[in-house]
Amino acid sequence: MATAQMWVLFVILATTLSDEVKLKYKAAKKPVRLFTEEELKRYDGSEEGRPIYMAVKGVVFDVSKGKEFYGKEAPYNALVGKDSTRAVAKMSLDPADLTSDTTGLTKDQLKSLDNIFEGTYKAKYPIAGYTASRLLNEDGSPNEDFEPEDQPHFQGNR
Ligand code: HEM
Repeated sequence: MATAQMWVLFVILATTLSDEVKLKYKAAKKPVRLFTEEELKRYDGSEEGRPIYMAVKGVVFDVSKGKEFYGKEAPYNALVGKDSTRAVAKMSLDPADLTSDTTGLTKDQLKSLDNIFEGTYKAKYPIAGYTASRLLNEDGSPNEDFEPEDQPHFQGNR
């Protein structure tokens, strides 16, 4: 085949392939649920039969199957129905730590937070959605850089 023809073929193939990759990528982007603070509060384990949700680092996990930890009157019930990032990082149940605020946490606390986020929450509990801190910018506009969390170590029935 003449060199010019080969180039034409190459260009056609390259554009077709890259379009396909893009389309697949878009299709993989499923809609995600945005939880406001008010909404998250409904899932605090107080209502029998309603799922129990808890956010860590802006990711809302369905922790219903950990009812013995998080259910009504269970030891970690204070952590649910809200984003408890700071409490998880500090292993604290102090009401002042029941917040998403990570200001002033030590390097070790942040490392511990990431270990629990990856090793417990992402591995054990399905993701129900995200808080505004992940999905929106400060001005309320959509965060174009948002990427859903992948759960490579998820073991649904653990
Ligand atoms: C005397 C203190 C404590 C003891 C003896 C204790 C003990 C335990 C035990 C036995 C587990 C279960 C591990 C498993 O079966 O997978 C656990 C899990 C856990 N603990 Fe504690 N804990 C204590 C304090 C705390 C505090 C203060 C926090 C505050 C955030 C905390 C947060 C957690 C979390 C987030 C889990 C994971 C629950 C899950 O798998 O969903 N613990 N703890």
